[in-house]
Amino acid sequence: MTSGSFDFASLLTAGLPAPAAKWTGFPKYNFIGGHNDAEHVPVDRLIAAVTAVLAREGSTLATYGLESGPLGYRPLREFVAAKLKWHAGIACTADEILITSGSLQAIDLVNGILLARGDTVIIEQESYGGSLSRLARLGINAVGIPLDGEGLRMDALAAALDDLARRGIRAKYIYTIPTVQNPTGTIMGEQRRRELLQLAQDHGVPIFEDECYSDLVWDGHRPPALYAMSNAGGVIHIGSFSKSIAPALRVGYIVAGWDILSRMLALKTDAGSGALEQMVLAEFCQNHFTQHVPALVRGLRAKLETLMEALAEQFGTAAEFDDPKGGIFLWVKLPEAVDTQKLAQAALASGIAINPGPEWSTDKAYGKSRLRLCFANPSHAAIRQGVAALAEVCRREFGVPARIANVERRAVS
Ligand SMILES: Cc1ncc(COP(=O)(O)O)c(C=O)c1O
Repeated sequence: MTSGSFDFASLLTAGLPAPAAKWTGFPKYNFIGGHNDAEHVPVDRLIAAVTAVLAREGSTLATYGLESGPLGYRPLREFVAAKLKWHAGIACTADEILITSGSLQAIDLVNGILLARGDTVIIEQESYGGSLSRLARLGINAVGIPLDGEGLRMDALAAALDDLARRGIRAKYIYTIPTVQNPTGTIMGEQRRRELLQLAQDHGVPIFEDECYSDLVWDGHRPPALYAMSNAGGVIHIGSFSKSIAPALRVGYIVAGWDILSRMLALKTDAGSGALEQMVLAEFCQNHFTQHVPALVRGLRAKLETLMEALAEQFGTAAEFDDPKGGIFLWVKLPEAVDTQKLAQAALASGIAINPGPEWSTDKAYGKSRLRLCFANPSHAAIRQGVAALAEVCRREFGVPARIANVERRAVS
């Protein structure tokens, strides 16, 4: 339905983003977004959790914020505090945690208290599209720092900070995804973390640490969070249950001191994030989180193996990638001749969705022949078929891959 003949268009406020496209269902081969593995959503245990928690505390739904106040359901914050301690080395209390509607709301709140049009932030050259698009929309100058196998390159970061200082500019934050970077899948080592903290401190720039994927490390080991390692404060940490449990739940969190959280709470005008999701997660996680995550991670690793095999089979040496340290993405480089934005359009017409590199990079030319593939949601069979179909489209549009295992590919009829 539309708004009929009433002219809303003339009333719309200036500066709105382009209208959203109507959803027409998922494509047959869906390699985009950050969806999770449907087989590993712990449905039975979530049902048991929701039943138990509602029977016990359902009547507290009568009040905004349950009986936990605006920071979010206290048992969930207590679980997050305990988990951050054992997993990331962060010593914080439930009062230093704000539950948000997904970590996207956390990003909006961090941006909301720190950024104004024309400000500068430092960001990984390849980074999360949702963060990049937000910065663009806010009119922020995003300075991209190249990455290597351990994430942010310290020489490049030092040079960028010095350059900004020479020009009298103090960046508002350094945004990093240090533990299973999106899209590259790297993990920043402990020594590099120390250097990063030192550089940030020397320049008086805070660090914005996004730990969305840190539960999904193949061997389960990760360095302490930057938040845990910082002696001087100056780090805001965010995390999410989207990747460890399920993204549709929309539950994330921010870890920061009350001086920061109190400013964010004043901007969080939704009267609290969804209560039922918070209650179910708290109930589930207290009993099952530590068993659930390793099983999920094993399933994801198996899907990654399938994806890497399919790419090697279908694209041969034309597809270059590093084996990521965890997560749900593979960041792939195709030959220069391939423009992945054009490839994405052509592929979508054939029912294959991919994320083109320029949307995941501050340097559009660098991203041109790169693409990101999410392997968590498609089945093993869909991964194999989808990659084969993508290779056909890519060959038709760009002549890549020309040959596979030295056999010229059959032209598509
Ligand atoms: C690095 C990063 N941060 C934050 C998010 C937002 O996730 P959510 O709002 O589901 O917690 C994503 C989603 O893919 C992400 O990749």
